[in-house]
Amino acid sequence: MSELFNLEGRVALITGAGQGIGREIALVLAAHGANVAINDYSPTRAEEAAAAVRPQGREVIVVPGDVTDYRGVHSMVAEVEARLGRLDILVNNAGNAGALKALGDWKPFWETEPDEWHHWLGVNLDGVLNCCRAALPGMIERRFGRLILVSSDAGRVGEPHFAVYSAAKAGAMGLMRALAKAGGRHGITANSIALGGVDTPGAQSILTDDAAIRRMLSHYVIRRVGRPSDAAAMVLLLASDAGEWITGQTYPVNGGYSFAQ
Ligand SMILES: NC(=O)c1ccc[n+]([C@@H]2O[C@H](COP(=O)([O-])OP(=O)(O)OC[C@H]3O[C@@H](n4cnc5c(N)ncnc54)[C@H](O)[C@@H]3O)[C@@H](O)[C@H]2O)c1
Repeated sequence: MSELFNLEGRVALITGAGQGIGREIALVLAAHGANVAINDYSPTRAEEAAAAVRPQGREVIVVPGDVTDYRGVHSMVAEVEARLGRLDILVNNAGNAGALKALGDWKPFWETEPDEWHHWLGVNLDGVLNCCRAALPGMIERRFGRLILVSSDAGRVGEPHFAVYSAAKAGAMGLMRALAKAGGRHGITANSIALGGVDTPGAQSILTDDAAIRRMLSHYVIRRVGRPSDAAAMVLLLASDAGEWITGQTYPVNGGYSFAQ
């Protein structure tokens, strides 16, 4: 294993890691030596993911809970620090890929109401605020931290079908840039990855529809649907010593759907 990507001695908390992209991130970080805490609001899913990660031979704990619960998130971070000794890498992954469901029966933003917005803003923005807020004091004290946001090209370039999801993801990316500036002198980096369509349980509503897949892939330079491992590879780079001089950035991981300027 290249030393640059060696995470031995590091502790990572991955939110929404019970399935899909988060579960793969947990697997990849553990395979590179990190001890991991697996969060999901479904305890059953979190336990199943932990069982899949444990054969990597690292310490794996399950910390179920809803990232939109401010106090609950503080207790969760305290539990990770108590049981695994520290928290170095926070992967803000919990989010609503279920926005893709809207492709089937979407309505324009100007026909939506605040009641419908809270759903997207809660997990995709408040959840990230809560987790970063809880993790930062310990990271600052230890003078090391990696904040990583699993975001979407919807937030980077705007997606008319999912305006509120786009707004929430863009807001969270803005937070990461602000925290990159605030955290740099404390040894903390903060970055986002902006994903295109990735094959996960949450994205099944579109990925089982051949016409929708064809439509989506017609915009991709690399004509295949994303895999969770595509996202996990970029997270590994940002989490490891290889990413030490990278901060405040948003990296598209999207088959070339839209390029970064
Ligand atoms: N799959 C895609 O095409 C795609 C594209 C762009 C961005 N993303 C982003 O990637 C991330 C992961 O997506 P995925 O496709 O793996 O989703 P998924 O729906 O398959 O899995 C998400 C997991 O997060 C958990 N979760 C949801 N809300 C939570 C909450 N409030 N607290 C704790 N856990 C919660 C769910 O229980 C689930 O296990 C999300 O942030 C999503 O917005 C996904």
